Parts: sequence; C-alpha cells; structure tokens
Amino acid sequence: MIKHVIAGIATILALWACVYMYNSDKEVNKLANIQSLIKKSEIKVHLVKKTEIKKEVKQSEKISSSSKANKKMDDKLRALKNKAGNIAAFKVSPLYKKNCSSCHGSTGEGIIGPKLRGKDKDFLLKNLKEFKAGTRKNYVMYGLLGNLSDQQLDDLATEISTFQAKYDKAQK
Ligand code: HEC
Repeated sequence: MIKHVIAGIATILALWACVYMYNSDKEVNKLANIQSLIKKSEIKVHLVKKTEIKKEVKQSEKISSSSKANKKMDDKLRALKNKAGNIAAFKVSPLYKKNCSSCHGSTGEGIIGPKLRGKDKDFLLKNLKEFKAGTRKNYVMYGLLGNLSDQQLDDLATEISTFQAKYDKAQK
C-alpha cells in the first residue's frame, strides 16, 4: 500500500517536474524571443538612423547648395542695393519710381534702358510721345507708356530733366 502511495507521489512529482520544466522552457523561450525582438528593433533603429542620417545629409547638402545660391543672390542684391544707395542721392516721384526706375535707374543713370539723366525736357517728352504713338518703335517703351496720360508723360519729362541738377547737388 505504502509502495503505491510513494509511487503515486513520485508520479505526481515527476509530472510536476515536467510541467515545471516545460514552463521554465517557455520562460527561457520568451526571454530569447524578447532578446531577439530587442536585437531586431535595434537593427531597425540602426537602419532607420542610417537612412535618416543620409536624408539629413542630403537635405543639408541641398540647403547648403541653395544657401550658396542664396549667398550669391544676397551678394548680388547687396551690390545692387549699395549701387542704388550710392546713386539714390535724391528723391524721385512715385510715378517715375514705379514705372521707369527699374530700367532707367533710380535716378535716371540707365540700366537696361539708356541714361536719362542730363537729357532736356523737350528731348524726353518728344521721345515719350513718339514711343506712345508708336512712331519711335520700341516694344518695351511702347507697352509701358500706353496706360500713362499725356499729362503724366509731361510730368515725367519735366521731372527727369531736373535729375542732373539734383544729382550734382547731392554729390557735393
Ligand atoms: C522695361 C524697361 C524700361 C522701362 C520700365 C522704361 N524704359 Fe524707357 N527705355 C527702355 C529702353 C530699352 C529704351 C531704349 C529704346 C530704344 O533704343 O529705342 C528706352 C528709352 C527711353 C527713352 C529715350 C532715351 C534716348 O536716349 O533715346 C526715354 C526718354 C525713356 N525711355 C523714358 C522712360 C520713362 C519716362 C519711363 C517710365 C514711364 C521708362 N522709360 C520706362 C526701357 C525701359
């Protein structure tokens, strides 16, 4: 009888041991899984980091190249501004500034269009009228003067004819 009890207990112990071993195996597996997961995610993080870094490098390259271009533009703008600042020795009317200064310069010194400073009123008005009428052919000037009145042309001619004296005065 006692033999049976011992055998029973032994069996139960053996079973328990089996279950225990199985469970601890599971735990170990879990641990291994977790470790491999961590490793994988590290790899991912690593990969992500690498590609991100590449992206960042590319972006910063872009930025630096565009900032190079920007710098060039800035330099050009600064040069232009300096030029304008030096030459803009006197005030011009908004009418001239808006319609004419981009091509003839802030004080009539000439850029794309010829120098106007120093030309007398008759010459200026005559040419403006001819441009507007189309008798002096220039598509740039023609298109520009179409929406200016004769009075405005007269005003402009009058104003521009004073540029030289104003300029000379400002240089002293
Ligand atoms: C988009 C550029 C541009 C603008 C803006 C412009 N002009 Fe001109 N202008 C020219 C060019 C180019 C000529 C030369 C045309 C030619 O040789 O036939 C010229 C010629 C002239 C002439 C004749 C000068 C000469 O020596 O023969 C006068 C005067 C003149 N412009 C006045 C003006 C006035 C005033 C304005 C503003 C209402 C003006 N321009 C706006 C480009 C411009």
